[in-house]
Order: sequence, then structure tokens, then C-alpha cells
Amino acid sequence: KGSRRKHILSEPPGPRPLPVLGNLLQLDLKRPYLTLLKLSKKYGSVFTVYLGPKKVVVLAGYKTVKEALVNHAEEFGDRGELQIVKDFNQGHGVLWSNGDSWKEMRRFALTNLRDFGMGKKASEDKIIEECDYLIEVFKTFKGEAFDTTQPINYAVSNIICSIVYGSRFEYDDPEFTSLVDRTNRTIQLVGSPSIQVYNMFPWIGKWVTVKKEIDAIGAANKKQNLGLFSHLKETLNPQMCRGFVDAFLVRKQNLEVSGIANSHFNDRNLLYTVLNLFAAGTDTTATTLRWGLLYMAKNPKIQGKGLKEEVNREIGSRQVQIEDRKNLPFTDAVIHETQRLANIAPMAVPHKTSQDITFQGHFIKKGTTVYPLLTSVLYDESEWERPHSFYPAHFLDKDGKFVKRDAFMPFSAGRRICLGEGLARMELFIFFTSLLQHFRFTPPPGVSEDELDLTPRLGFTLSPSPHKLCAVSCM
Ligand code: HEM
Repeated sequence: KGSRRKHILSEPPGPRPLPVLGNLLQLDLKRPYLTLLKLSKKYGSVFTVYLGPKKVVVLAGYKTVKEALVNHAEEFGDRGELQIVKDFNQGHGVLWSNGDSWKEMRRFALTNLRDFGMGKKASEDKIIEECDYLIEVFKTFKGEAFDTTQPINYAVSNIICSIVYGSRFEYDDPEFTSLVDRTNRTIQLVGSPSIQVYNMFPWIGKWVTVKKEIDAIGAANKKQNLGLFSHLKETLNPQMCRGFVDAFLVRKQNLEVSGIANSHFNDRNLLYTVLNLFAAGTDTTATTLRWGLLYMAKNPKIQGKGLKEEVNREIGSRQVQIEDRKNLPFTDAVIHETQRLANIAPMAVPHKTSQDITFQGHFIKKGTTVYPLLTSVLYDESEWERPHSFYPAHFLDKDGKFVKRDAFMPFSAGRRICLGEGLARMELFIFFTSLLQHFRFTPPPGVSEDELDLTPRLGFTLSPSPHKLCAVSCM
């Protein structure tokens, strides 16, 4: 009966593919998520597109993405592949792995993020301490225009460093800055048009110069981490784990002592899980913060009347704490609206079906790559009053109280939902609120608010195009 149904049910519809090229010629490689958004208007909320020879099923709109990722969490919960990543980590770590190895690494990473920080006072203290360093750097520019990228990346990255390695780094430590800068560069390159074409046709690899750069960066990051691990190994005290790496090494040793062979706690999983946490935990949060400051410079009324007034009234000049969030509904709404409109992970990270599934009347085969188009959720016209504007009132009721919105899904949903959501939300609140407590953000002299460019730069995540802002001290 099952196989008869499969014949009756059709695969999701989509534009007609050409041999070999598939729908490549229809795809804007600079902004593939916008092409997919357009196709969803024509073909509906579940459709098929061919990226070269590779078939991808796209999920669009809040209702469909939620139904797939939450109500069919198992079936849609495997990770899909990208050739460029496959070359690099061969299925290890937590971000690009599947099966038991993924399960163990995800569980272990979550427990340790909690133990070494996430959702706890300890991480709040770390974020507050780091924020003080960041504020000092901003002050050194004395209100003159500067690029916020590096200081924000370094501050955010140090939170993950404290959790993973057990210590923060100075912002002028070349070992640290090179690791952060290289990771940032990789995320940009992985989303470039030539790498997207490489992912479709891996045999062109030896002619793709960007791939050579990614390979070189990957090798340097691996080498540097192995150096950091060997230092941590030499000074390891099983009674006092300093961070994730220590906890992993202790678990590995214990398993070896009890004679358990082939455990997932091996050197490769250690290396790739650390690289995943570092990459996923730095760029995303730092990028969101930079969008937030840019939106504030562009919307001086929201910054001044709405946000600063609330912060001055509720906090004044004392230290911002997580506890304050419930008394700062407008600020919280601005942060949520920043995440919604910035849409930094427009297509989430590729998923894959773990079994055959019938979904919304269509048959999707096991092993099919699936893109949850988060753009279509965060900009869903049936969910948001002003999907394409910066409108914090999306998250406020008529009395100015904060309201949660179901279609707020920047961290995705279901089995693969962002593992660092709790930590990211804490960081966003403390960094953003503290920066706005200390500074007024404006465009550089001679540039009007309207001239600030909101076109995202190309990359695997969407960050603002290069720009400078003034941080005028107000405390
Ligand atoms: C996965 C967003 C911060 C670690 C993801 C995914 C998204 C996302 C969209 C893919 C989910 C899917 O496959 O459907 C964000 C955003 C962040 C953020 C918007 C900040 C504003 C962080 C932080 C960490 C982190 C701080 C590190 C602690 C991860 C990991 C995964 C992931 C490890 C892979 C989970 C898995 O495959 O099981 N994130 N993230 N993220 N994120 Fe985040």
C-alpha cells in the first residue's frame, strides 16, 4: 500500500531544471535566499529546486517551516551536506554531523555550555566583564567614526573562549586575533558565488582559488587549536575543569580507563566541536550586534526617545544585568526586531530528511537536502504587520509590554535548533543595552541617516556591508 501511495503522491513542484545545470541559471548566487523567496510565491510553501545536479526541497513560510521542523522533527532533523564543509570536517563535530556521534556531541556541548556558563550567573559575569573591555575600546575613538567589526568580534569571541578554553584573550594577542579574523573570513568566503558553484560541481575544485584560501585558513585554525589543546592537556586537573576542552579530555580519559573502545569522545570530535562552537558562536552574535548599532544610527528616534529614555529611567548609570530585561520591554523589542530584520541565517543551515516522508501532500525521499528558508518566516507577510521595516512594535502590545511572536525564528526550530540560543540571547541583551547606555551611535560626519546602507554583505551569514559609525560617549 505504501509504495502505491508513493506513486500517487507527487514530489514537491518547482521550476523545470536543465540537464546538469538544474536551476542554476535562475539563481542569484549573490542572494540565493531572495531567489528562493521569489520561487516560493510561484510554487508554494514546499517546492523543489535543482542546485546544479543536486535536488533541494525548500520549506517556506512560518506555518510550513514550523510544521516540518517541529511536528516532524525526526524526519526533517538530519543535517544536509555542503561539499566545502565535507572536505573540511568529514562529518565530525556537532554542526555538520549526524547519528549517534552528533547526538553525543550535542548533548555534551549543551551540558558544558550550561556548566561553564550558559544561562547562569557565571556567564553573566563573563559577559559583563567583557563588555567593560569593549566599552573601553569604543571610548578610545573619542566619538570619531570607526569600523565596529573587530572590537565586537573580539569581545563576543572571548565569551566562547572562556567557555571552551577556560580563559579570555587580550585584544592585541596575535594568536587570538588571527583565529577570530580567519574564522570571520571563512564564513564570508563559504557563502561566495564561486563556492556555491563548487558545492554543486565539486570536480571544479582545483580551479577555485577561494577554495584554496578556505583550505589554508582551515589548516591554520586546526594547527592553532591543537597547540592550545596540548597546553591544556599538560596542565589538566580532572578535579577542576576550566572549560569545555578540559571536560572533554577528562571524559575521554575516563572512557579509555574503563576500556571503552571506539567512543565518540575522540580527537577529531574534540577539534571539530571546538571549531564549530567558535565559528557558530562568534560571527552570528557579533553580526547581530553590529546590525543593532547600525539600525540605531539609522533610526535616531527609536534610539533616543524609545530606547535611551527607557534605559536611563530603569537603570541609570549602574551596571546592566540580565534581571533588567523584564523591565526593559522596548529595549527587548528592539533586540528582537534587530534579529528579525537582520535575518542573519537566511536559509538556516541545510537539513536532510532522515526517512521517506509525506508532507503536505508531497512525497520527499529519505536523504533529500532540505532548506528551511528562515527569511520567509522572519518576513512572512501573514505574520508580521510591517515585514520589511524596522518596527519594534512587532514585539509590543498596546500597553508597551513585551510580547513573544511565534514567527520569531532566527535560531531555527526543532531538533537542530541553535545550540547556543540561551547564551546568544544573554550576550545580545547585555552587550547591546550596555553599549547604548554608554554611547549614542550616529553616522559619520557628513553622512545622513538615509545614506547608511542596509544592503547585506555576501556571505554564509548576512552581515552589514563595511561601514563606520561614531560612538559618542554619553556617560
Ligand atoms: C545552529 C542561529 C548563536 C552554536 C544554528 C542554526 C541557526 C543558528 C539558524 C541552524 C539551525 C538549523 O539547522 O535549523 C544563531 C543565531 C545566533 C547564534 C542567530 C546569534 C544571534 C550561537 C552561539 C553558539 C551557537 C553563541 C555557540 C555557543 C550553534 C551550533 C549549531 C547552531 C553548535 C548547530 C546545532 C546542530 O546542528 O545540532 N544557529 N546562532 N550559535 N548554532 Fe547558533
